[in-house]
Amino acid sequence: MKILGIESSCDETGIAIYDTEQGLIADQLYSQIELHAQYGGVVPELASRDHVRKIVPLILQTCEQASLTLKDLDAIAYTAGPGLVGALLVGACVGKSLAWALDLPAVEIHHMEGHIMATLLEEDKPDFPFLCLLVSGGHTLLVDVQTLGQYQILGDTLDDAAGEAFDKTAKLLGLPYPGGRYIAELAEQGDATRFKFPRPMMNRPGLEFSFSGLKTFTRVTWEQEVEHCQTDNEKHQLKADIAACFQLAVIDTLSKKCLRAIKQTGHKQLVISGGVSANISLRETLNKMGQNHHFKSFFPSLKYCTDNGAMIAVAGAMRFKHKDIEQNNLIKAYPRWSLEQLA
Ligand code: KG4
Ligand code: ZN
Repeated sequence: MKILGIESSCDETGIAIYDTEQGLIADQLYSQIELHAQYGGVVPELASRDHVRKIVPLILQTCEQASLTLKDLDAIAYTAGPGLVGALLVGACVGKSLAWALDLPAVEIHHMEGHIMATLLEEDKPDFPFLCLLVSGGHTLLVDVQTLGQYQILGDTLDDAAGEAFDKTAKLLGLPYPGGRYIAELAEQGDATRFKFPRPMMNRPGLEFSFSGLKTFTRVTWEQEVEHCQTDNEKHQLKADIAACFQLAVIDTLSKKCLRAIKQTGHKQLVISGGVSANISLRETLNKMGQNHHFKSFFPSLKYCTDNGAMIAVAGAMRFKHKDIEQNNLIKAYPRWSLEQLA
């Protein structure tokens, strides 16, 4: 069975074809980052319009990459939420229309379920059940994944998401948008011991996260210290040190909460997914922690950490296996949609 996956929930148009026999056979991504970078964040209306421009050519390009025509497809999976409603509607309209025109079944995919299932694209993949740390630009969740569709949220963020905190810190330091990977690059040149950044919510029980206090601490540190910089070199070093201290504080917080959740649930497998899971230091920390505490960490390969069509196609393949096929011609998008509602 060949499933076309369509992702358009934010600023990436991602299209892929997953074959249940052969695995992923084609995968195309168009990122709108350049379009939004000048505004320092995603402009929803521009995002929708760009998806409209790119989505059909990208679908055709993906079929060409797999040496298939649209008629060779067996099913369509598309992101129906959560995300920007206009952007979602582009993928939903195209997905449903294609399914209708080609007389194929279609399935709505929850974007975060897509992120969770992205690790199933790897050769070394987890078995159900497992614990998942989902860290993206919009979410920071610890999820108990019992099986496909059965998710219990154990911890959420009370304010900013981890990726959002990376992006805001990057903006403060004058780095491009989205800033997560630039903070990570700069942190390599920094001294993570120069300042002691707070570890939010660590001295309280529970699995909740909060990053707004850390964000304020970062801003205050930057504003106080930059005044003492005499040269560009000193200023650059200050930025690198702040990036390193900030990154360490986030990783420390995320990893210690993961360990707490592992101990609480008894899971032996931890899946880390979403854009922030591309962070190499986070990956190294959780791999090492797993070795010391007898659990195994799983990550998607770097290109499938951030938004992409492959994760939607593979989640779609699993949904079809469970016969979660839509029987209607309604086109729906859900800007807000809890993972727990999927059960
Ligand atoms: O999953 P994603 O592509 O979009 C959402 O669903 O939100 O995640 C994007 C987020 C951005 O905040 C970006 O800065 C962050 O992932 N990110 C990183 C890294 N690469 C991307 N954060 C930290 N380190 C990275 N290497
Ligand atoms: Zn995402």
